[in-house]
Amino acid sequence: MNESHLKFLASPEWARMLEADLLPWVETAGDLGDDVLEIGPGPGLTTDLLRHRVDRLTAIEVDPELAAPLSDRLRGTNVEVVCADATNAGLTDQRFSAATCFSVLHHMTSAQAQDELFAELHRVLRPGGIFVGADSRDLDPIRAGHIGDTFVPLPPETLAQRLGHAGFDRTEIDVGEYQFRFVTRKSDERP
Ligand SMILES: C[S@@+](CC[C@H](N)C(=O)[O-])C[C@H]1O[C@@H](n2cnc3c(N)ncnc32)[C@H](O)[C@@H]1O
Repeated sequence: MNESHLKFLASPEWARMLEADLLPWVETAGDLGDDVLEIGPGPGLTTDLLRHRVDRLTAIEVDPELAAPLSDRLRGTNVEVVCADATNAGLTDQRFSAATCFSVLHHMTSAQAQDELFAELHRVLRPGGIFVGADSRDLDPIRAGHIGDTFVPLPPETLAQRLGHAGFDRTEIDVGEYQFRFVTRKSDERP
């Protein structure tokens, strides 16, 4: 991430926005259950939001310079920080009750990597598990904030089909002014 983006994601202002805006939506999206997977915690403000509300949280962060300090800060809590690419982190089949992914998809290197992540999350969720996420729309001011950074926006109108291809169903998407949010589900019928 570029320096100014990173600074903002660690700021009290971002923490307040998450608490006021993202959290109420997450709470209505569905029950996260007891064993939650967070993709892309970055500096960890979304991790802080989640960790007080679930029994166990596993946060997968690909950037070692972000994963190491987060792991140090959260040592001895209910959070395990794993430094890995979430498309291939060696997680157990059908372990998690829910997965979350906040402002991460557009930071992935390609649409193919995003699709690999969807397939991987479907594999590691339990039957009936939910996947909730939020991501940026492709707008000029948001592009401007990602100069020198990875920016692979995901068109929200393609999301339900892409999640369906990974095996998810009952996808609901809310498109807002700058962001879209979604909740999707793994079927609770066991194979
Ligand atoms: C914009 S930050 C979001 C941080 C936090 N979720 C928030 O909303 O404040 C995106 C994070 O996703 C991480 N990321 C990108 N691709 C990833 C991948 N394949 N596996 C795990 N983490 C990834 C980046 O390193 C970055 O820390």
